Amino acid sequence: QDDTAPARSIVLIGLMGAGKTSVGRRLAARLGLPFVDSDAEIEEAAGQSIPQIFETLGEPAFRDGERRVIARLLAGPPSVIATGGGAWMDAETRALVREGATSVWLKATVATLAGRVKDKPGRPLLHGKDVHAVLTQLAEQRYPVYAEADLTVQSRSGMAHDEMVRRILEG
Ligand code: S3P
Repeated sequence: QDDTAPARSIVLIGLMGAGKTSVGRRLAARLGLPFVDSDAEIEEAAGQSIPQIFETLGEPAFRDGERRVIARLLAGPPSVIATGGGAWMDAETRALVREGATSVWLKATVATLAGRVKDKPGRPLLHGKDVHAVLTQLAEQRYPVYAEADLTVQSRSGMAHDEMVRRILEG
């Protein structure tokens, strides 16, 4: 609350389990900004859960919705925006974020991420799969692109969310 609210939105990116939603909520509270989660916005717009959207409409339709939702959020008042792990892989989304917001990559090792997402339903890319193997492959594909974020904050297993928030505020 003692921190001045920034004029631009803050967009959190990173793999599943990186803590985008939990850290985002706390960061928003500290800055006095609204918090929004792009996955939740997509679910609300579609009237379906993420797994249902993947199943009935398919991943490409989900990605289209994700791009539109993030564009709408970026056009709104400054806020802290947690995105789904794949959002930043879209070139159009990256360009929009670069133009109008500050991007922060919550970076973590696959071991840390796997420990956090284990046994949590609702993530179609991991459902019924070897979570460690899928996350390893996604990390290989995505980490070089996530690294283009304005700021990278490394999270370790057991690190408190408030510690992550502190690091983000320190910039
Ligand atoms: C995805 C991550 C999920 C969700 C969807 C796809 C991804 O969001 O958008 O299941 O491609 O990494 P979280 O990163 O919030 O789990």
